[in-house]
Order: sequence, then C-alpha cells, then structure tokens
Amino acid sequence: MKGKKIIVGVTGGIAAYKSAELVRLLVKEGANTFVAMTRNAARFVTPLTFETLSNNRVIRHMFDNTTAPLDHITWAQEADLVIISPATANFIGKIANGIADDFLSTLVIASTAKILVCPSMNSQMFANAAVQVNLKRIAERGYVIMDPAEGELACHTEGKGRLPDPQEIMEKVRFLISGQDLKGLRILVTAGPTVEPLDPVRFISNRSTGRMGYAVAKAAGRRGATVTLVSGPTALTAPRGMMIYRVQTALEMKRAVLDCSAEADVIIKAAAVSDYRPRERADQKIKKGAETMTIDLEKNPDILAELGRTKRSNKPLLVGFAAETEDLLINAKEKLQAKDIDMIVANDVSREDAGFASETNIVKILYRDGTQEDLPLMKKDEVADHLLDKIKDLIGEKE
Ligand code: CTP
Repeated sequence: MKGKKIIVGVTGGIAAYKSAELVRLLVKEGANTFVAMTRNAARFVTPLTFETLSNNRVIRHMFDNTTAPLDHITWAQEADLVIISPATANFIGKIANGIADDFLSTLVIASTAKILVCPSMNSQMFANAAVQVNLKRIAERGYVIMDPAEGELACHTEGKGRLPDPQEIMEKVRFLISGQDLKGLRILVTAGPTVEPLDPVRFISNRSTGRMGYAVAKAAGRRGATVTLVSGPTALTAPRGMMIYRVQTALEMKRAVLDCSAEADVIIKAAAVSDYRPRERADQKIKKGAETMTIDLEKNPDILAELGRTKRSNKPLLVGFAAETEDLLINAKEKLQAKDIDMIVANDVSREDAGFASETNIVKILYRDGTQEDLPLMKKDEVADHLLDKIKDLIGEKE
C-alpha cells in the first residue's frame, strides 16, 4: 500500500470507533491516510484520535479555518481510494441522490477514485426499502459496497448491520488498490495439514496451520486470479471470493486436486500432506492394552509427483513447498527434480521465525533451470506476493 493515498470518510454511527483501527492498519501498511469526518461522526470519536493515528490533519467542515478552499477537490482527485466507514443510512441516501451539503459528501461527488462504502446500521434500517434502493443505485454507478456482517448490534438486537471487522475491510482495500495483474489466471492452492484417522477419536497429522497457503490464496484472489483453495483442517477464517474444498485426509485432498487440476493454469501445493496413513481405521475407540503398541502405516499417494507426471504440454505450472529441518537445499532440489515441477519453495521449519505456526517465513526459491533465490525474513503475506510475482514471470515466459 506504500505510496497510495487513501481517504477514510467517517460518518455518524456508533461503529465510527472501529474506523480508528482501520486507519491504524492502513497507516501500518504504508498508505498515506487522510480522514474526513461528518459533524455527527465527531460526536462519537474525536478528530484528535484520527489525527494522531493518521499523522495528517482531519477535515470536518467545508468552511473551517484549517480547510483550504479547494481541499474537497484536491483530496478527492489525488486519492487512490475513498472508504466510507461506517456509512450511515443518511449518508448513503445523500450520495445516492447527489447531495453535497458537507465536506465529505462534496468530496465523494468530486472524486474520480474508487469508492468503497461500508454500511453499518440497525438491521431494520438496513433492510428498509429506501436504503436498499439507494445502495442499488450507488452500486450501479460503480461504488463498491461491502456487505455488513451479521451479529450483535449496538442497539442490543441481533441481525445484519454490523460494520465488518477492520481486517476484513483491509482485505477488500488490498483487492481494490491492487493492479489486478493476475486477472484471467486460474490458480489452485492447497493448504494446511491432512489428518489421517486411527479410530473415531485419534489421528496422525502434523503441525501445519495453513497460514502460508491461505496467504497465497488470498493474495492471488486480491490480484484478480480465479482461485480454488483445497484446505485441510485449519483454524483460519475462510477467505472470501474463492471456491473452497475442505478435506481431511491425503486421499480426499488428492481427489479434490485431481478433479480441479484440468481447470488450473497454476497449482501451488503449500499443504503438508501426511506421507502415511494408518493401514486400518478402527470403528470404535482403541482400548489401551499391552505396554507397547505398533501402528501399521501405509504410504499415501504423492499428489504433487502425480501432477508432475502429467504430459508437459497439458501441465499447469507446478509449485511445491519443501518443509525441511536439515539439508534444506539438497532436499529441496531433489524434490524439485523427482516431482518434475517448475519451482519449489524451501523453508527450514525448525526455525522459530519460519515454518508452521509463525507469522513470518524465510524461504529460498529453487527453479527448474538450476537458479536459486534467497529471500530475507518476510511476513507470509509478503512471501506470497513475491511468489506470485515469480509465477507471473514464469507464465509470461511459457506463453
Ligand atoms: N506433497 C504431496 N503429496 C504428498 C507429500 C507431499 O503433494 N503425499 C507435496 C507437498 O504439498 C509439497 C511437496 O510435495 O508441496 C513437498 O512436501 P514435503 O512434505 O516437504 O516432502 P515429501 O515429498 O513428503 O518428502 P519428505 O516427507 O520425505 O521430506
């Protein structure tokens, strides 16, 4: 988001306090963030809060001493994105009808930037026919509307009308300001562990959390790719806007991947597939008995290697991950060749700042032609974007 100018328009609803967190997140990601508030918004949160978080002056009134005569035009036209969060029923009504009676509504009319509207209000107000007609009207004019979330509302009722979580709004913002450079590309991503049951209460699995795969899927979706995510069990929130297949075992993952592979230009296998499964699955809970116990395991199919055996002319671009605790490069290179894939992302999962449960990762990318790239310690989101840049280059070379 570095170098982007984003305006957050705060209108007078109780969810205005959540926009403080939104502004904090925007600034954290490097966006030059400006806040314009309506008169009523300033009853809920003080401008000083936004001024401090954004490091920029906050505008409330058209005719304040601190507002320059052309601020509404310059702010509007230099912006890459205007976010109205929260957007009240009144404000939605104003912009749907071309009313410009304060700084923020005038700025919206003057803007040529994308406008993201995040309605937040009581569920009956949201369902009201006039509000719905107004939302439809602004959507037809190209405004992007973020559907409110359901849940407990400030008026002590339950329903649809909550401002989405600031993190969720951020995901939409990333999508809107990205160049959509992967539009037209169909990407299949696998993520998470597989779980191989022993009996109804026990299983064999691994420590994968799915974070790296989910980061790749989200980044690809945000950049305009059509994404299919095949996910083992994880505690992560399902990303919006993509087809998700939930699987448990390696055999289920194989079926889902092979079913979707013909439709994919790129397959990224970030999942940590269990190499073995118990030969037998007991119908009832296994009871304790002797001092030692042996579990008979049989090998799971290697999904990536199977994809690698596809005839090269029909083959999607194949990307593997190599999770290693020793001899990182030797092992990763061997996997790249043995599975006949295009690139492999090698990471040392024994490090604290990399691997399974970590927010960050430090990886080396190995290519078919023998070249290698060592990336510094990065957030998993950044690794994901870097990886997608490389995939885009390789696809470009293939064509
Ligand atoms: N993989 C797969 N099917 C399997 C095992 C692994 O598709 N049955 C894929 C993983 O998704 C990953 C790559 O192969 O992209 C490497 O996985 P990894 O677990 O590092 O290696 P393995 O091939 O399983 O070898 P080993 O466990 O001996 O290191």
